Amino acid sequence: MDSVVTASSPVLGKPLVHFGKRVLERTASGAPSSDYRRLGVHPLTPHIGAEIDGVDLSAPLDAELADELKQALLEWKVIFFRDQHAFDAESQLTLARVWGEPEPNPFFPKTATAGVSRLAKDADSAGNKNIWHSDHSFMAAPALGSVLRAVDIPPAGGDTMWADMAAAYDNLSAGMKERIEPLTAEHDWVHSWGAMMTADQIATHRQSLPPVEHPVVVRHPRTGRKLLYVNEPFTIRIVGLPEDESRDLLHELVLQARIPEYQVRFRWQPGSVAIWDNIATQHYAINDYYPQRRVMERIAITGGPLS
Ligand code: SIN
Repeated sequence: MDSVVTASSPVLGKPLVHFGKRVLERTASGAPSSDYRRLGVHPLTPHIGAEIDGVDLSAPLDAELADELKQALLEWKVIFFRDQHAFDAESQLTLARVWGEPEPNPFFPKTATAGVSRLAKDADSAGNKNIWHSDHSFMAAPALGSVLRAVDIPPAGGDTMWADMAAAYDNLSAGMKERIEPLTAEHDWVHSWGAMMTADQIATHRQSLPPVEHPVVVRHPRTGRKLLYVNEPFTIRIVGLPEDESRDLLHELVLQARIPEYQVRFRWQPGSVAIWDNIATQHYAINDYYPQRRVMERIAITGGPLS
């Protein structure tokens, strides 16, 4: 029997909250954290996000260190490093290659270092709202992860949050899990990035970036864990459902990333670096620092098709 009870909002008449024991597992098996010989691993929540010490990311990484970093990312979904003051764009590229090849973002401004995108907000744009998302879900093979480096941090604000999409899946009702298991969804960039483009620019990007489909529930490519894989800006419809039904279902599913119990929040400092698993998480950069400036540099790491 489904042990989760759903209450509806008296205002919206839509599912509001599911009462029942929340499942917050760091790994599918609930196994204790791995032993790390070279890294210090300091959890920020019990299931997502850990600060790592004992590593200088600007120095060459040997195989054992690289393996421990990969293991820590699989376990914690997003890992953070402090005081990496010598870590530059070149060392960021070397670090990203521990997981795979850089995947350029088609829309972000590029930097002098190929594969590194610059995300800058200043007095003109720092007030803009943000949205929970997974990078590049509009691609046939979405990025498997990203490495983000703080370049210029506002004196206060500008934190980033990540949501654990395994927790989002685990805490759906049994009925909902059964309903969405066979479904696929269409992902497209045109409603979000396209809103800032001319018709000609859209037509140019369209040639290389047609709408794509991914399962609504994907299995993590490394751990096999089930994850809810829909996000607010890029998932535009559930394939095969009438428009109303697709919209209502997507509405309920994309809201799962907003549940605080699934999240971790990171306060950036000069020298901070984050690496996240982009399939297992969504993220949200908080735009609360207007009119201060915030500059980050990001490398997305090429992934593969999802199933
Ligand atoms: C991103 O959305 O990929 C960047 C996150 C951030 O700037 O904190």
